[in-house]
This record gives sequence, C-alpha cells and structure tokens, in this order.
Amino acid sequence: MTNPRKIIIDTDPGQDDAVAILLALASPDEIEVLGITAVAGNVPLPLTQKNARIVCELAGKPDVPVYAGCDAPLARKLVTAEHVHGKTGLDGPTLPDPVMPLQDGHGVEFIIDTLRREPADSVTLCPLGPLTNIATALQTAPDIAPRIREIVLMGGAYFQVGNITPAAEFNIYVDPEAADIVFKSGVPITVMPLDVTHRALVTPDRNSAFRTLGNRVGQAVAEMTDFFERFDIEKYGSEGAPLHDPCVTAYLIRPDLFSGRHVNVEIETQGRLTTGMTVADWWGVSGRAPNATFMGNIDDDGFFALLNERLARL
Ligand code: RIB
Ligand code: CA
Repeated sequence: MTNPRKIIIDTDPGQDDAVAILLALASPDEIEVLGITAVAGNVPLPLTQKNARIVCELAGKPDVPVYAGCDAPLARKLVTAEHVHGKTGLDGPTLPDPVMPLQDGHGVEFIIDTLRREPADSVTLCPLGPLTNIATALQTAPDIAPRIREIVLMGGAYFQVGNITPAAEFNIYVDPEAADIVFKSGVPITVMPLDVTHRALVTPDRNSAFRTLGNRVGQAVAEMTDFFERFDIEKYGSEGAPLHDPCVTAYLIRPDLFSGRHVNVEIETQGRLTTGMTVADWWGVSGRAPNATFMGNIDDDGFFALLNERLARL
C-alpha cells in the first residue's frame, strides 16, 4: 500500500464540486486532503467557502481546514452560474449551516505555505473551479511551481466545445488569464475536460443507486444531482447531469478509468467569440510543445461503481 496522495482541493461548490470533495474525503487510503481553498465561480466567494464547509460536515470531517481564496478573476468581472447550481450554489438537499470555522488567512497563502512546507513533488493541486487562486499563487510565489507534483483540474473542452459560450467551458471562461498562467507554468497538468465529463452522466438508475446507498450522503448526493441535472437535460437532451468535478478525484484513485493524450493546450484570452477556449492540439498540427495530458475518455460504469462504493463509506 503506497502512502496516500497529498492534495489541496481548490473549489467553487457547486453540487458536482461537492461530490468530488465527498469522494476524496471517503478515500483516506489513497488521498490525504491537506486543505480546501474556495474560489469565486459557480456562486460568489462567501457562498463557495460556506458550501465547502457544509460538504466537509456532511462527510463527517469538520477538521479539514477550509480557506477563502480570491473573490474575483484576475482581470475580469466575475461570471457566476446560479442558473445551473441555484441561488445557494448547493440547491437540492436541505443541509445545515456549517459549525466548523473558516480558517484565518487567505487561501492563496495556504497554497504557497503548504507547497513550501511539504517535500517537493509531494503535493497535488486539484482545481475544480476557475483557476484564479492557483494562478495568483504561481504569480505571488514563482518558487512553488517546481515543487508541485501535478495539477489535476476540471476545465476546458475540445470535441465537446463550450458550455457557457459556444467555444468555452465555464471554469476557463470565468478567468482565462488565470488559466493561461497555469497552462504556461511548466507544472505537469492533467485535464478533465467536458469531453470526459459529458460521458459521466447521472442517469435515473445511477441517481437511484445514490439514493439507495442508505446513508445521509447518498440521499444528499441524489438530491444535489436531481437539482442540477434539470439544466443539462433541457440544454443537451442528455439522460442525466454530467458529474464534472468528481472526475478529478476519481482519477487520483483510479487513473485507469480515464484515457487521453499528452498534447499542447493554449488558452484563448483575446478572441471576440472564443475567449476562454482551450485550444487543444489533439492532432499535433501546431508544432507547439505538449504541456498537458488532456483526457478524452472515461469508463463511466467503473466511475459510478467507484463513487457508490466510496460514498457508502461516509
Ligand atoms: O463547466 C463545469 C464546471 O463549471 C464544473 O467545475 C462546475 O462545478 C462549474 O464550476
Ligand atoms: Ca466546480
């Protein structure tokens, strides 16, 4: 048994972020969550930091340190997604307000301090929202870049194009300047784009399987995914909501569930119609050096089997 992988989850909960956090906290043999940093994204920062704490308490893990990070993108006005996630960002289940405290100090400082304290190449960053906190940490403390083991993020799209504009996926679109900094950082990056997450659909059977886990977490996850699937079914006509962010934490536990290519990915920051697009050179035509492993496929049945097995533990 190898030691659990040390991670920092950077997140904008968001129902799918919540499931990603629950999966990580249910898997202590594989994942050690050093802390959670909230970022503005799906909903404003006061709600994402509160929701992160709600989810930790739902998991029965009130000792996980949760920090508030950046409340706005580097250079743009914040765009939020209440139309998908509801006014609270965690609509669906009725969950109690958090009792656990928000940590003092800024989330970006926590990221920097943790990477400087922990052995080099031992900490993985897992961004599940806009990359504002990660980019700010890299800009503030360039010395941390070579110390990061890997960045495993949910964001971007290639064959699945955009979900917030015709060309861009939400996390990248909200802060394209931050994404550009991260993808040019030289840190090993693994990307879970819409190309993969749109294959991780919560069908009615899969939703029922959450509900019959027989615990509070299963019921809450079923109600969360019931809520935010209404948007995706109407938009895509899909048979259920895509579980975007849990693909990140599932990858840390079972990388064999995913496959992709190591390609060049650049971020469009100037496009009149394409700002926020992840320009993934899937066919290797640009001559630009590969800088990210861009996932293209998922064993979705295996993914949901893992989710059910782990969520049942909480
Ligand atoms: O486009 C999907 C991403 O945007 C997910 O991370 C979801 O939580 C939202 O943040
Ligand atoms: Ca998210």
